[in-house]
Amino acid sequence: MTDMSRQPGETALRHRTIRRFKPEPVDVGTLENAARAAASSEYLQSFTLIHVTDPDLWHAIAAVSGSAVLQQENGELFVFVVDTDRDIRIARRALAKQAAAGKAKTAGSADAIRNVSRETMLADALSNAPMHAFTNWNAFLAGVFDATLAAQNMLGYAEANGMGGCYLGSILNDARRLIDLLRLPKHTFPILGLIIGVPDDEPGQKPRVPSSLSVGENGYPAVDEEKWNEAVDAYDRTVAAYYSTRGSNTRADTFSALVVRHLASDQHHRDDIGAILREQGFEVE
Ligand SMILES: Cc1cc2nc3c(=O)[nH]c(=O)nc-3n(C[C@H](O)[C@H](O)[C@H](O)COP(=O)(O)O)c2cc1C
Repeated sequence: MTDMSRQPGETALRHRTIRRFKPEPVDVGTLENAARAAASSEYLQSFTLIHVTDPDLWHAIAAVSGSAVLQQENGELFVFVVDTDRDIRIARRALAKQAAAGKAKTAGSADAIRNVSRETMLADALSNAPMHAFTNWNAFLAGVFDATLAAQNMLGYAEANGMGGCYLGSILNDARRLIDLLRLPKHTFPILGLIIGVPDDEPGQKPRVPSSLSVGENGYPAVDEEKWNEAVDAYDRTVAAYYSTRGSNTRADTFSALVVRHLASDQHHRDDIGAILREQGFEVE
């Protein structure tokens, strides 16, 4: 166990990503419950959590991700899925029941059609209607919020209890393949992987962008250009010191260099995410 477990009240301040795990079990049920207990946009709970226990599936996801984290076998792997499909099915079922009940009430009467209540007609129409409120940008974002907060609740619980983990955004390197592998229906999208386990590593904490640049009071941080430049230079030195002195994989690097590398990196494999979302039934233009 890392020293994270010794001060549970401060784990949020001591976060660091863990990428190597001991072959020790973790309580998966409680981790899943922590994810499910997270706040949810409009309480719609627009996410689904998939625990990967099949070694073949693990390897297939590892191939999609390309991440070294999945080249080892320890830890529990979860995929967090944006899911408005469950609520669409719940809505259709409830509306169909409502419409059927309304029709049954008026059946047999000479004035059946005239007397069909406004609610019944509305329910009838909606039970076959496109579910725009569950497929638009707002619904997709709500699913992203819900899935992400659930993942962070799981990781936060894990870190407070002597475990650690690593997010895997790299599962999106081939989103179509992942959708296929996980048999995801329309109106779902796999947004984030997360591996959790007992740490077999105690990495240093990565320094963050200074609060003068990343925290504002009543508005965007107002920093004059000279102070802004000084703060970035100082942060570059801090990051360089972190990379040159950390326990493993030391290197000469700065935050500015990292940002420029990102700009120069090939992101084309992610360019079709919008098209994939539309294939999945989300009306996001
Ligand atoms: C959305 C998201 C996706 C991430 N995807 C990956 C990933 O695919 N592979 C990986 O090794 N780390 C991944 N990470 C972990 C980040 O690299 C890590 O959080 C960052 O370098 C800061 O380090 P720290 O978490 O130790 O402070 C991801 C983090 C986030 C928030």
